[in-house]
Amino acid sequence: RRRIKRRRKWRKVVGLLKELEESFETPLGRLRQMVDAIAVEMQAGLVSEGGSKLKMLLTFVDDLPNGSERGTYYALHLGGSYFRIIRVHLGGQRSSLEVQDIERHSIPTSLLNSTSEVLFDFLASSLQRFIEKEGHESISSQDVKRELAFTFSFPVKQTSLSSGVLIKWTKGFAISEMAGEDIAECLQGAVDRRGLDIHVAALVNDTVGALSYGHYHDPDTIAAVVFGTGSNACYLERTDAIIKCQNPRTTSGSMVVNMEWGNFWSSRLPRTSYDIELDAESLNSNDMGFEKMIGGMYLGDIVRRIILRMSQESDIFGPISSILSTPFVLRTNSVSAMHEDDTPELHEVATILKHLGVPKVPLKVRKLVVKICDVVTRRAARLAAAGISGILKKLGRDGSVGEGRRRSSDKQMMRRTVVAVEGGLYSNYRMFREYMDEALRDILGEDVARQVVIKAMEDGSSIGSALLLASSHSVRTISNI
Ligand code: GLC
Repeated sequence: RRRIKRRRKWRKVVGLLKELEESFETPLGRLRQMVDAIAVEMQAGLVSEGGSKLKMLLTFVDDLPNGSERGTYYALHLGGSYFRIIRVHLGGQRSSLEVQDIERHSIPTSLLNSTSEVLFDFLASSLQRFIEKEGHESISSQDVKRELAFTFSFPVKQTSLSSGVLIKWTKGFAISEMAGEDIAECLQGAVDRRGLDIHVAALVNDTVGALSYGHYHDPDTIAAVVFGTGSNACYLERTDAIIKCQNPRTTSGSMVVNMEWGNFWSSRLPRTSYDIELDAESLNSNDMGFEKMIGGMYLGDIVRRIILRMSQESDIFGPISSILSTPFVLRTNSVSAMHEDDTPELHEVATILKHLGVPKVPLKVRKLVVKICDVVTRRAARLAAAGISGILKKLGRDGSVGEGRRRSSDKQMMRRTVVAVEGGLYSNYRMFREYMDEALRDILGEDVARQVVIKAMEDGSSIGSALLLASSHSVRTISNI
């Protein structure tokens, strides 16, 4: 009788898993509809302010670095989980790019809901420590102010390359008194209060920094995507296509647009009850729906919610663990560790489950957990591929004849296109990368996909922002619009 009971229980779990797989499914047809929807929304966001959930923000960046830049520049990068400070020296040739110093720190969680004063004072004091380490050859001894790019990984309405206001916090940040503040001015104020000789000369989204870095090394780079705590993309657009911005004065005829694609929404997105609950309980509900399906901050929590529900609906995980009810207790790096656990007994899975208050589950339950990680990450990676393909479609580089544009030859259709990619989710999670690459090939077809190079970078957003600042010093082409 016991065995029959156990079998029945397991049958229920198999049913739950089947339901889960179905609700997370991303068949190719659906992905293609999403690609179309992204291209359409991009267009709508370029036509009018608020015309789409995609903000399509102007960046005032037209000329991307090309390798000829010179000088010493700094960048301070506030990301989602980390902040970095770097100093780079540029000698006028790509090969002479030298990262002289780089510091990476995790952001203390207490900062996430502190005040603007606390945040900027923290950043300024970190900068102070960084420049105090410099030897006698420091720039200040040469009587020149240090030029710094502030890589700020949040949505900003820019008014020039060096100024802009925060639109809204994302990724769990909830610092009061900030919306509407000029971000560069806030940092400059905190730096001045400490008497540091630093000029905050550029305000750069992390995607734009990544694009700059990519373009510096490879001029075929026309878009950049961040897959980190959050997710976002930017790309180079023709200024005449940016209809909402009348008469943009750029010499290159193009401008980088920060899509803020985390806020993309379409009825074609495979939204499940887990996504709905996660969104409802988040600090920014009804916002950043796409990011909540593909961002590193959220994947772990989706997996946690699924395990919790399964443990409530069957007792295969033993007594319900109270730890499992804690939001964000399961991080995405643990998801990747479980997903990629190649020990026959799934030791890593067992250890992580133990930390979640679920000790001693049989191998087949551990296998079930790996399957859950697979389902969640595969969906994320396939949606990410649809996002990239959407940009390619908008640019007429997806191999299809879209937007009424006719290609003069097949050769033109197959132009080499480089997409710079940065972020821990991509660089540290092999299965995410593999699923994304596979989906790109499915969506674009082998021939086109072969022409699309995904180039992974490390610290590209920070270094790229410094490069961008350097190139803006050599040519100043954009004035306020
Ligand atoms: C969030 C921010 C966006 C940033 C992205 C990646 O989506 O809103 O500005 O680029 O995270 O860090």
